[in-house]
Amino acid sequence: MAGEDPTFGPDWNNLSVIHRNTLPPRSSFVNYSSPNDALTYDTSKSLAVCLSGTWKSHLANSPFKAPADFFNEDFDKSNWNDITVPSVWLIEGYEKPSYTNVTCIDYMQVPLDGNMTGSYVVKFPFPKDFSGYQLRLRFEGVDAAFHVWLNDHVNKDENILAVRVYQWTDLPPLIMESDQWWLSGIFRDVFLLAFPKEHIKDFTFQTLLDETYTNATLSLALLQSDKSTIVAQDEVSAKGCDTVTFSLEIPNPTKWTAEDPYLYHVILTAGSQVIAQRVGFRKVELKNGLILVNGKRAVFRGVNRDEHYPAKGRTVPLEFLRRDLILMKRFNINALRTSHQPNDPGFYDLADELGLWLIDEADLECHGFDTIHETALPPEEQAKSFEEKKAITYGRAGKRLSDNPEWEEAYFDRAKQLVHRDKNHASVIIWSLGNEAFYGRDFRAMYHWIKEIDPTRLVHYEGDVRAETTDCYSLMYPKIAEIQSFAEKWDGKKPLILCEFAHAMGNGPRSFKEYMDEFYKNPCLQGGFVWEWANHGLLTKNKDGDEYYGYGGDFEEPVHDYNFVMDGLVTSDHTPGPGLAEYKKAIEPVQLIEDSKNEITIINRFDVIPLNHVKCTYSIIGDEFTLAREDTHIPYTAPGHISKLSIPDFELPKPNTEFPIRGPATTAVAPPPAPSARITELPEAILEVNSEFCKWNFDCVLSRLTSWAKENVEILHTGPQLDFYRALTDNDYTVGASWKAKNIHLMKPFTRSVSWDTKGGVVSITCKQRIAPPVLEWAVDADITYTFTITGLSIAVSGVPHGQNLPSTSPRVGLTLALDSAFSDVEWFGRGPGESYKDRKLSQKFGTYKLPADGLMTDYEFPQENGNWTDTRWVKFAAGHGALTARVRTNGEGFDFAAGHYYTTDVDQATHPFELRQKRVEEVVVRLDADHHGLGSQSCGPPVLEQYALESKPFEFEVLLDYA
Ligand code: GAL
Ligand code: MG
Repeated sequence: MAGEDPTFGPDWNNLSVIHRNTLPPRSSFVNYSSPNDALTYDTSKSLAVCLSGTWKSHLANSPFKAPADFFNEDFDKSNWNDITVPSVWLIEGYEKPSYTNVTCIDYMQVPLDGNMTGSYVVKFPFPKDFSGYQLRLRFEGVDAAFHVWLNDHVNKDENILAVRVYQWTDLPPLIMESDQWWLSGIFRDVFLLAFPKEHIKDFTFQTLLDETYTNATLSLALLQSDKSTIVAQDEVSAKGCDTVTFSLEIPNPTKWTAEDPYLYHVILTAGSQVIAQRVGFRKVELKNGLILVNGKRAVFRGVNRDEHYPAKGRTVPLEFLRRDLILMKRFNINALRTSHQPNDPGFYDLADELGLWLIDEADLECHGFDTIHETALPPEEQAKSFEEKKAITYGRAGKRLSDNPEWEEAYFDRAKQLVHRDKNHASVIIWSLGNEAFYGRDFRAMYHWIKEIDPTRLVHYEGDVRAETTDCYSLMYPKIAEIQSFAEKWDGKKPLILCEFAHAMGNGPRSFKEYMDEFYKNPCLQGGFVWEWANHGLLTKNKDGDEYYGYGGDFEEPVHDYNFVMDGLVTSDHTPGPGLAEYKKAIEPVQLIEDSKNEITIINRFDVIPLNHVKCTYSIIGDEFTLAREDTHIPYTAPGHISKLSIPDFELPKPNTEFPIRGPATTAVAPPPAPSARITELPEAILEVNSEFCKWNFDCVLSRLTSWAKENVEILHTGPQLDFYRALTDNDYTVGASWKAKNIHLMKPFTRSVSWDTKGGVVSITCKQRIAPPVLEWAVDADITYTFTITGLSIAVSGVPHGQNLPSTSPRVGLTLALDSAFSDVEWFGRGPGESYKDRKLSQKFGTYKLPADGLMTDYEFPQENGNWTDTRWVKFAAGHGALTARVRTNGEGFDFAAGHYYTTDVDQATHPFELRQKRVEEVVVRLDADHHGLGSQSCGPPVLEQYALESKPFEFEVLLDYA
């Protein structure tokens, strides 16, 4: 006997099998028995039975180890587990999840071992009211491929549905590989649907507006404007035809836009079949080189959203999804790209209803092939620039699949599944052919097919860099200069959108304003989509049983991309982070563009609607006061137009306060130096200074204050020290590595000399320090002069960075000190209430704010620098017995401060919030910075803009501390 195993190309490893015995893709709908039921859009009232619930399951390590004949009624499943459908295996405890961006398994061979294969069985009774109907089985989402068995005549009390799901097939990871968790299973609902014998199989609406975008032609039947008024109706005989096309003329229907999402209800009846579909009248076109909706240029203020739910991975409850979309609307977001797969069918109904412009993307990515070619570059090509290398490797990688005729059918299938399912949704205005899959003939074929069956929408694909077969150019993470240069050279044919920009990983991204300014200034720049909406932490537990959100590597995966999956505007539980607040401000639809004491000028940034639905309330805010004001009327303001609003006269409650708050800070003067102060030399090189109220100790060896007491109450935990480091952020990716290479994080002060003086009865201590890292022969030479007042002191600092290996920038320049734990109530006048940085501060308004020191921290899911407050005028730390006020005289607009219960080193070293929490200290750690390096968005994108970088150069500032 002879043999070979495997002896055949099984379906899951056979490129010529994409589907077998399946119906062609169609739009997503269910049948009802009456128009009233249909108009509820409630699936439980439809001819559909949801089979989701508790199923029996078995998980094997290989398709070949999965039980044979398990679909037979008498198969013994007594030792099988229960599994919830929909779900992914890992959540049910079967397997460990893994996260990679581009790296996964060997692409050249579908694994036989380590190819998890889930066998599922569920029994269901035949629904009585389905008798006489045809049945359909609908799987709304399965990862990655599956076989289905069902008993012959589905009319018994107990029918058996058996499903076998394969983790790896010849398609994924080849063309379904996007930057996400690899999570397999039946992850969306499963339905049994009934269709009458004679029925509509599928339908397509097109809402064709005339040249003036007024009257419409609808390409199908029975139209109602609300659930009772019939706007138009028609009947057509379909006898003997496969396809019937007919149209209805609708005079001046209310139009649908993302800003005003008006929907009509269409009822289709064919015999006993009733279908309801919401339809929005809108026209999308590429005209004069621009993307227009109903004749108006749209500016996408969008986000990319991957489907993910922290407790269940790819299985996302509809309520969670709805919450997301409502949150987006509240944060001024008007567009969404379904990166990088078609979403849950229910998502599109919500988007139609709430109003979002959608780029609906096919599930197609093969990014990893680039890694193969990049790694294989010979040294002379390795030396080329990033763009040159990309051109070379993308060309080579493209040949594998996207430009390979053998893959055409598989690519086609991606387009068909997408377009047929979602074609009746008003919100979908652009189809996206996929992501990061290079370019070639298969994409061209997809494009032409889409244009043929749906000429009413536009097509996007970033990988088509010359926009040969797309309706717009698309870029990821360009610099401002790149988009400016596109606008300058624009040929008037196709616009540019940024399908990904402002990588929202960790503390960042840097200011959106510069991008928005360009989008508003240049018609050919039609906006962008932030990468990305949410962190994708998976809810898990640490050794102590505490819950936290895990990322790559937290599940013992040998290969992973660490915390690159935590790059969203909202946290894993979808709580808005500081980046989202900043985006909201940058894309606000009503912008203030000019102000004076009695008048403000606003501009309407909506693309379609006028400002007749908003009201303006304002208050006058200053240093420790708020004057509440009446509403002021906003006149009719068309999109893109400005209006002036008047502000009646008012008196400032405090004289000498700032109005308006901008420009260099007026730093209030420190209390006068204390002429009656005394200085005494104590043993061990300690100087003691006494004023009428306070007593200080200064250690000449450390050249640092070691005590400051008033009536025996100690204020300091650790005296101020010049400091240059911050815990690195995700966006400090490159610059952080260079800082570390220069040992900035290891810098230490060395005392060179200390001198003191009592000229004119005023006590001052001057120390000269060299602050230097180990070895590298660079340093900051600093002169620090302490001048004592009756109730406090001034610390004047000047420094000169110099030497070999001097880094070109530093994270910050300022003093770090720690106050006694009693000083835990923080109040300040400056920006707030949230954290702010030089290049991410516009969302934080000036005011007087108060928070406990514990509340001044942004708990990033990957701990890093946080809780900085920029443009501050003063900050006060209150204890029961008094308060310490700090001010910093700088050349800029105020100063930066931070306060909390963690030291920089601990934040820098922790990789999870629970690790950091163990390092909390009682004292209040305070930073008073004259300057602070911006954030940038270099976790994936451009570094800090030049104007926000903190260059290493001589500096000077003065800190004033006062205790009262
Ligand atoms: C893009 C890609 C996204 C994501 C992002 C980085 O290149 O399309 O899927 O990986 O980079 O977070
Ligand atoms: Mg990718």
